[in-house]
Amino acid sequence: MYDPQGEKSFVKAMARLLRERLGWPVGPEHIALTNGSQSAFFMLFNMFAGDFDDGTRRRILLPMTPEYIGYADAGLSEDFFVSAKPVIDELTPHTFKYRVDFAALPLDDSIGALCVSRPTNPTGNVLTDEEMRHLSEIARERDIPLILDGAYGLPFPSLVYTDVKPFWDDHLILCLSLSKFGLPAARTGIVVAHPDIIRAIASINAIIESRAREFRGHVGDGDGRQWANPQPGASRSSDRFIRPGHSEHSDS
Ligand SMILES: Cc1ncc(COP(=O)(O)O)c(C=O)c1O
Repeated sequence: MYDPQGEKSFVKAMARLLRERLGWPVGPEHIALTNGSQSAFFMLFNMFAGDFDDGTRRRILLPMTPEYIGYADAGLSEDFFVSAKPVIDELTPHTFKYRVDFAALPLDDSIGALCVSRPTNPTGNVLTDEEMRHLSEIARERDIPLILDGAYGLPFPSLVYTDVKPFWDDHLILCLSLSKFGLPAARTGIVVAHPDIIRAIASINAIIESRAREFRGHVGDGDGRQWANPQPGASRSSDRFIRPGHSEHSDS
């Protein structure tokens, strides 16, 4: 049966993967699938920023620029983003590292959520574990979410070559994608977040996505389990991993 939260067995397998491999306290109620993570950002940004019924306007804070250009047009109103420049540490004459300038963050009551990509497109910068903890604390203190764009990596393996750990916290909204490790045509975004947010995404999905979702049932052995529990020697590009258009295993 069509489920706007996403193909059930894939969602379950993903939750189990995060719980068993990383120890995160998440279940299927913490996960929704979207039509690529790009559309997840569109939903999330407009959920937490823009014009609200009480007359207030909120914005998304990008704590460190340059940030992913794909966010730029995702807001439905003007003056949607606010951003901050980084501190740039020169490590050697030819290498440098971007760092969040915490002292200069433009934090005020208009901020509805923070958003960072880790690793960042286009710079390849990877926020340190300490920077993640600090950003998370800021979000917690203000009771707003921290949206973490993990399209290029963690917690998926063999994508990030910096010594950093996957990050989870209960006010984090983690957005993952199948695009960057070889499945761009599958357009599958994975949102891991508090169940209230997952329910809201499912409601939006129910309106703006329909048949596209059925494709996602075909990543893996037809029900998603194989992808989340890869067998030794399995190839990501083999027929077993993507079978668009048809599955004998789907719940429908
Ligand atoms: C940092 C970042 N986040 C998100 C996306 C969106 O990816 P997708 O919609 O394919 O999941 C991209 C795509 O290039 C990206 O670079």
